[in-house]
Amino acid sequence: MASVPLAQPSTNDAHHPNPVRAPAHVHALLDRLHALSSAQEAELDLLSIPASDFHTTVADQFVALEQDKCQFVYALLRATGATTIVEAGTSYGVSTIYLALAAMQNAAAAAGTTAGKGDTQPRVIGTEHEREKAERARAIWIEAGVDRVIELRVGDLRETLKDEMGTVDFLLLDIWADMALPALKLVRPHLRAGATVVCDNTIASAARYADLLAYVRDDPAFQCITVPYHKGLGVFVYYP
Ligand SMILES: C[S@@+](CC[C@H](N)C(=O)[O-])C[C@H]1O[C@@H](n2cnc3c(N)ncnc32)[C@H](O)[C@@H]1O
Repeated sequence: MASVPLAQPSTNDAHHPNPVRAPAHVHALLDRLHALSSAQEAELDLLSIPASDFHTTVADQFVALEQDKCQFVYALLRATGATTIVEAGTSYGVSTIYLALAAMQNAAAAAGTTAGKGDTQPRVIGTEHEREKAERARAIWIEAGVDRVIELRVGDLRETLKDEMGTVDFLLLDIWADMALPALKLVRPHLRAGATVVCDNTIASAARYADLLAYVRDDPAFQCITVPYHKGLGVFVYYP
């Protein structure tokens, strides 16, 4: 069982408590990475970039999931006890740190119960197309102390997500819009009943996500809700 980072809460501000339990240096690292990502995004209007140019224009950018959304995802993971998590779109691995912290803490909590889940291993499968980003992400995860639970699959997720992934509790779709539905279709056969899928920007990029949104909303196996974070955050609960 991987050891669990020390539990230390941190506060965003008086009205927005931070649910994430992590050592102080991890909170500081996350604050720094989110600030870097926000600064990059302030220079680029992501939504104005034509879909055809998107891959090349932002190839070396963080484009990290916003900090408040990451904290929501972390809380959702803690609430659902997810220990096997897949991320479609890892970039420099900022959101992945939250996934790993939650998976480790959930596995540790399960080990402390008498429900017979003591051998649950935390497992986060990341996917990233850009080799340089993957190398940087691995260094960041070592700094955060979460590297040992993350398996990063480098290459096109349409190939890498064909490999074994066990039974999946949670899927984060934080990926260029045209890759979201292929990723969901590859992971879907591995989702457990009650698994949760979260997809970023489902309001602002609704047109680009038209195929994905039609797919989940037309299928009664998915119970869909949009959480009103900036640009929208889709949550799809899977009950086949
Ligand atoms: C929005 S960013 C992910 C940000 C990350 N989740 C975070 O919060 O730090 C999306 C990433 O998906 C990667 N990507 C795009 N198409 C891909 C594909 N077909 N296979 C794997 N990764 C891909 C991009 O290189 C980019 O780094």
